[in-house]
Amino acid sequence: MEKNIVLIGFMGCGKTSVGKRLSMKLKREFIDTDDFIEKREGMSISEIFAQKGEEYFRNLETELCKRFETPKSKIIATGGGIIKNPKNVECLKKGGTIVYLKSTPKQIALNLRYDNSRPLLQCENKEKKIAELMEERNPLYKSCADVTIDVSNIDIDATLDKIFYILKMSVEK
Ligand code: S3P
Repeated sequence: MEKNIVLIGFMGCGKTSVGKRLSMKLKREFIDTDDFIEKREGMSISEIFAQKGEEYFRNLETELCKRFETPKSKIIATGGGIIKNPKNVECLKKGGTIVYLKSTPKQIALNLRYDNSRPLLQCENKEKKIAELMEERNPLYKSCADVTIDVSNIDIDATLDKIFYILKMSVEK
C-alpha cells in the first residue's frame, strides 16, 4: 500500500474538490472526513455542532484519524480544524503525506460567499472571522505540512499539476 495523500487547509480552500479529482486521476479511494462523520451521525456538520457541540465533533474526528495511521493508498480531504489536535496530526502523518492547500482570507471569503454550512463562520463579518481563525491556525498547518501549495491564485487543474510534480507522480492527462 502507498502512503495516503492527506489534504489539509482552511475551510473553503478546495480540499474536497481537489481530493475528488486526485482520486479519479490516481484511481485511489477518496474519503472526506466531514462527509464520513455526517453519514455516520445521520446529521449535517451544522446539526452536530448545534445539537451535540463542537467537542463531540472533534472527538469523532480524532476517532476517525486513528484509521489513517497506516498507509492505505487513500486520498483524504480533512476538515479545516483537524490539525488543532496533535493526536490527529500524529496519526495522519504516520500513514500519509500531508499536503497543505494554502489560501488567503480574501480568497476564502470569496469561495464561501454563498455558503452557510460552516458553523464557525456564522457571523456578521465573515472575512474578519476567517482572518482571525487563519492567523491562529496557520502555524499549525505549516508545521505539520510535508508539502505546501499556494492555491489562492490557481485553479484545480494547476493545483493537481503542482501536487503531481512535487510528489513526483506521473499520471495520464
Ligand atoms: C471546520 C471545518 C469544516 C468542518 C467544521 C469545522 C473547522 O470542514 O469540519 O465546520 O474547524 O475549520 P471544511 O474545512 O471542509 O469546511
